[in-house]
Amino acid sequence: MTILSEQQKQAVEATEGPVLIIAGPGSGKTFTLVERVLYLIQHKEIEPNNIMVATFTEKAANELITRISNKLHEENIKFNLNEMYVGTIHSICLRILEENRECTRLKKNYTLLDQFDQQYLIYQKIRFFLAIEDIGELLSYNLSRWKQSEFLLKWINRLSEEIVDVEDLLEHEDIRINVLGKCYQLYSDLLIEENALDFSTIQLETLKLLEGNNEIRLAYNDVLHYLMIDEFQDTNTIQEKLVFLLSRKL
Ligand SMILES: Nc1ncnc2c1ncn2[C@@H]1O[C@H](COP(=O)(O)OP(=O)(O)OP(=O)(O)O)[C@@H](O)[C@H]1O
Ligand SMILES: [Mg+2]
Repeated sequence: MTILSEQQKQAVEATEGPVLIIAGPGSGKTFTLVERVLYLIQHKEIEPNNIMVATFTEKAANELITRISNKLHEENIKFNLNEMYVGTIHSICLRILEENRECTRLKKNYTLLDQFDQQYLIYQKIRFFLAIEDIGELLSYNLSRWKQSEFLLKWINRLSEEIVDVEDLLEHEDIRINVLGKCYQLYSDLLIEENALDFSTIQLETLKLLEGNNEIRLAYNDVLHYLMIDEFQDTNTIQEKLVFLLSRKL
């Protein structure tokens, strides 16, 4: 039998409205989150598709899924975990994109690029990047093309993660920032051309989808009544925005 500490119990049972759990490492935050999911299902008769539980790394997500499944099994609860939105933020975004692919720029059979694929794409097209006016201000010609691709990728991913507006970069007074904006634009065009998504644009495309389609966003707001994030301190700008867009306005 599980015995919760007084504070854990309080967090588990506070099911309505926002709850923030702050506690030291190994003190049972994830444990409390899992108990909260159980509580919602057992005592509040919440349907799995009304619950979203997200975290950041694959490892943490797998652990979360295992812990929830074990708990449900222990309690003899028949439950289809696939219906619950559980996993990394990226995997949840990917699911949302797939559920609404026709409203995104993605065509059927799009490819998902990992970091190596991304760098390889830039490497293959490096001549187009090198042809950008004033590229020398940003990129060292002394580097190998592979290293140049690595350098560009680092910046491109950072821009995607922090939802920087390309127009602002292009109009910025610092020439290196203009060049970076042009590189970003070129990379975005390449993704469209290749019908590809990368790790960082998964989130960006989801953000565009939710911001650009009220109906779709409202449909998620309507079902996702309980959103929980483990390791919330790891959220970046775009992830926080996504979570707030998905959550129901009270
Ligand atoms: N009330 C409890 N009863 C039994 N075991 C508990 C209780 N609270 C926490 N634990 C156990 O303590 C261990 C650490 O808990 P947990 O992993 O949830 O902590 P955490 O705060 O999420 O850690 P981290 O900071 O590493 O993410 C786990 O094995 C968990 O099962
Ligand atoms: Mg934890």
